[in-house]
Amino acid sequence: MPEANESLSPWARFKALPVDSTPKTILVAVGLCLFCSMIVSGAAVMLKPIQEQNKVLDKKRNILQVAGLFKDGVDIDEAFKAIEPRLVDIAEGKFSDAEDAASYDQRAAAKDPARSITLEQDPASIKRQAKLASVYLIRDGEGQIEKIILPVHGYGLWSTLYGFIALKADGNEITGLQFYSHAETPGLGAEVDNPAWRGMWPGKKVFADDGAVAITVAKGIPSADKAQYHVDALAGATLTSRGVDNLVRFWMGEQGFKRFLDNLKAGAV
Ligand SMILES: Cc1cc2nc3c(=O)[nH]c(=O)nc-3n(C[C@H](O)[C@H](O)[C@H](O)COP(=O)(O)O)c2cc1C
Repeated sequence: MPEANESLSPWARFKALPVDSTPKTILVAVGLCLFCSMIVSGAAVMLKPIQEQNKVLDKKRNILQVAGLFKDGVDIDEAFKAIEPRLVDIAEGKFSDAEDAASYDQRAAAKDPARSITLEQDPASIKRQAKLASVYLIRDGEGQIEKIILPVHGYGLWSTLYGFIALKADGNEITGLQFYSHAETPGLGAEVDNPAWRGMWPGKKVFADDGAVAITVAKGIPSADKAQYHVDALAGATLTSRGVDNLVRFWMGEQGFKRFLDNLKAGAV
C-alpha cells in the first residue's frame, strides 16, 4: 500500500519533514552560505574604489617617508605636491612623456607584453620589467633636483618586496630605503621595515669611484674601504637580505637606473 504522503508534491513532502532532518539542514546551510557570500562579494565590490584610493595614498605616504617629508597628521595629498612624478625610459636612461606620469601604473605595465620586456638576466627574480619607470623628484627653491626617489622591487624569500630608494642629487648617496609591500615573515624577513635596519641605509653610497655598483647587503664587518657601501644583513633572515641585495643592485645597475643616473649627472636627461 502506498504511503500517505507519496501523493504529495515534492515541496509539500519536503515541508512535512522534521526541522532537524538532513535535507532541511542542508538547505539552511546552503542558503546561509549563499546569503553570506552575496554580502561578502557585495562588500568587496563596493569597497574596491576605497581600497584603490587607500593604496594610492599609502604609496604616496611611503614616497614622502623615504623622502623625509612625512610628518604624523600631515595631509598626504597636500604634502605630495612637493614631489614631481616623472617617467623614465629605462633603456634610454632619459625622461619620457610617452604616458601620464601621475597616473602611470608600473606594476600593470610590467604585466603588459607591449609595455615591458622579458628579462634574460633576472637577479631580482621579477621575470618582466616595464619599459618605463615612475621616478619622483624633489627640487630646491631654485628648481634644482635635491633628491631622486626610485622604485625598486624584487623577490625575497616568500614574496616580492616593493619599495623606494631615495638618493641625493649626486645620484650616489642614499638617503633612505623603504618597502611598502611584501609578505616576508614578521620578526624575520619583515624586519626590513624595522626603523633600526632602515636607519643603516642613509649615507651609504651606491657606486664606487669607477662607477660600478658597490652597494651590498651582507653579513659581517666590511673592511674600512668597503664600509660606505655595506649594509648589514638582517639576523635570522639571510634569504630576505640576499633578496634585498639582489634587487637593489639590479635596479641601480645597467638593467635598472644606472644609465638614467649617469645621464642625470651629465645633465643629459
Ligand atoms: C616559518 C619560518 C619563516 C621564515 N621566514 C624567513 C624570512 O622571512 N626571511 C628569511 O630570510 N628567512 C626566513 N626563515 C629562515 C630561513 O629559513 C633561514 O633559516 C634563514 O634565512 C637563515 O638565516 P640566518 O643564516 O641569518 O640564520 C624562516 C624560517 C621559518 C622556519
